Amino acid sequence: MTAKPTPKPRRMAFEFDPKMDKYWYHGNSLMTTMLSVMSGMFPEGERFFIHAVRHYQDQVKDPELQKEIRAFIGQEAHHGNAHEVVNQLITERGVPVDQVEAEVIDKLKMAKGRLPARGQLAITIALEHFTAMLANWLLNHPEIMDDLPADMKELFIWHAIEEIEHKAVAFDVYQQCEGNYFVRVFFMMTATFKFLRDIVWFQSKFLWRDRHFPKLWEWRQTGRFLFGKGGALSSTLGHYLSYYKPGFHPWQHDNTHLIKDWEQRFPRIAERLDQHLAA
Ligand SMILES: [Fe+2]
Ligand SMILES: [Fe+2]
Repeated sequence: MTAKPTPKPRRMAFEFDPKMDKYWYHGNSLMTTMLSVMSGMFPEGERFFIHAVRHYQDQVKDPELQKEIRAFIGQEAHHGNAHEVVNQLITERGVPVDQVEAEVIDKLKMAKGRLPARGQLAITIALEHFTAMLANWLLNHPEIMDDLPADMKELFIWHAIEEIEHKAVAFDVYQQCEGNYFVRVFFMMTATFKFLRDIVWFQSKFLWRDRHFPKLWEWRQTGRFLFGKGGALSSTLGHYLSYYKPGFHPWQHDNTHLIKDWEQRFPRIAERLDQHLAA
């Protein structure tokens, strides 16, 4: 494997268009609500990941992993903050993802109170597998974000780059401090079900609230996006299932080439790097 990348927190200075369309993904209500609901889940979700990993920080003896944990925390904190800004705009434009944020806050508060630290970390590594998988897919198909509001596209691509960079950090903490295979797999099954269910639930709720019934072209475009040749779900099934192998490790799927020299591939994103505030 090519040497794995070192995660590095970057604070970005995006400028989202305040006049962005309500259905900012090419006017497609299904695609927009799907991506917006995910964005709504990120801020508190990523704070939960930080909380779950922090619990083990003192137990990790490996100085390299200690360094990676600090970078992981910085990256996830910046992601949460950036998505919070865009979520407010999405809400103002008419898709109330603030409701997603509020519900995620409640659910995760409950999870923190009821689940042992091991369960919280197992949820974290399951959802980190999801984000790494979607990030891998997105960076293989950046063209699906062409012609979107520029900063929206850049937000998702920046997030994807950093999700790949730190995809094994929480996993390595789990393996070093816990390591139980059955717990890992059990929480992946429940997290998969809840993650997909919640996205569809919020999408239905938002569309029903506006009595907006997606047209045939919206269903077709979304169907192709998810299940078409090279689609976001159809082409990632194998990647998803690899998590269930007892000897799985995120870097067995070597995709360092996708983030190598990203500054050259995505110069507009590199320009967004907030030089003054870079962590
Ligand atoms: Fe993130
Ligand atoms: Fe992450």
